[in-house]
Amino acid sequence: IKGENGISQVLLRSPRGASARVSLHGGQVRSWKSEKGEELLFTSSKAILKPPAAVRGGITICFPQFGNRGSLEQHGFARNRMWAVDENPPPFQSVDSSFKASIDLIHKSSDDDLKIWPHSYELRLRVILSFDGNLTLISRVRNGNSKPFSFSFAYHTYFSVSDINEVRVEGLETLDYFDNMCNRERFTEQGDALTFESEVDRVYLSSSDAVGVFDHELKRTFVIRKEGLPDVVVWNPWDKKSRAISDFGDEEYKHMLCVDAAAIEKPITLKPGEEWTGLVELSIGASIQ
Ligand code: BG6
Repeated sequence: IKGENGISQVLLRSPRGASARVSLHGGQVRSWKSEKGEELLFTSSKAILKPPAAVRGGITICFPQFGNRGSLEQHGFARNRMWAVDENPPPFQSVDSSFKASIDLIHKSSDDDLKIWPHSYELRLRVILSFDGNLTLISRVRNGNSKPFSFSFAYHTYFSVSDINEVRVEGLETLDYFDNMCNRERFTEQGDALTFESEVDRVYLSSSDAVGVFDHELKRTFVIRKEGLPDVVVWNPWDKKSRAISDFGDEEYKHMLCVDAAAIEKPITLKPGEEWTGLVELSIGASIQ
C-alpha cells in the first residue's frame, strides 16, 4: 500500500483483525493495531512524513549507532534510508507452523554510507504478525567485509499510553543504568517498578528477557520479550524537552513512552562473514508478575 507520504508500506493482517504497517523508509513499523482496532504505537501529530528523517513514532531501527554515542548522525543512518523488500531471505531460525503474516526487508550500505561508515553489511528485518496479533521483529546483521566491525542497535519503540502518570515499567528493578541526563553516569535502580514524574532518558543494562509496560488506566500491559538485546532504553521527554522537539506536540509526552530493546553498553562485534540476530516480540498481556 502507499503511505500518506507516497512511500510504500506493507500491511500485515491477522485473521482476527490485528494489523501492522511497515514502511520501506527506514524499515520503520508505523502502526500496530490490536484485534479491537486500537492503535498500540504512538505517532506524533506533528511528525514529518517526508524523508529523509525518521517519522516521530512507531518503531525505528537504530543502527549502527545508538543516540549520539559515536561520530554518526543521531541513532545511526539506517532509519533514514530507503529499504527494499528482500525477495529471497536466507533461512531464519525455525518458525512454527501456526498462522503468521510476515515481510522481509533488507538494507545494505550505499556508496555514500561507506564514506561515513566504511563497513559493508547486510541488515535484514523480518516483521511477523502472529495469529494472536503479537508483533515480532527479527533483525540480522551480516559482515560483508574482510575486517571485523562493531555496532550498537535498538528497536526504538514508541508505545501509546493513556496517561504517563498511570504507567509503570516492570522488570528493570535492581538493574544498573546509564543516565543520559547526567552525562551517562552509572546508577543502580532502587525502586520497585519504574514510574514517571519528570524527564527520563536511561539505558538499563543487562535486563532479563521480559519487560512489562503496565498502563493502569487501560489495565493493559505491553510485554516486551527480547533475544540478543541485553539493554533496555527508557525515554520520556516530559514537558520542557517536548517543547524543544519540533516534530513533537507540547503535551504529547503524556501519551507515549519509549521502551527500546537494545544492545548499547557492549557493542556487537562481527568478524568477516559472521552474522548477529536481535529479536523483539511485543504482545499485550496481563501483568508480567
Ligand atoms: C532516545 C534517546 O532513545 O531517543 C534520547 O535515549 C533521544 O536521548 C530520543 O532524545 C529521541 O531521539 P530522536 O533522534 O528520535 O529525537
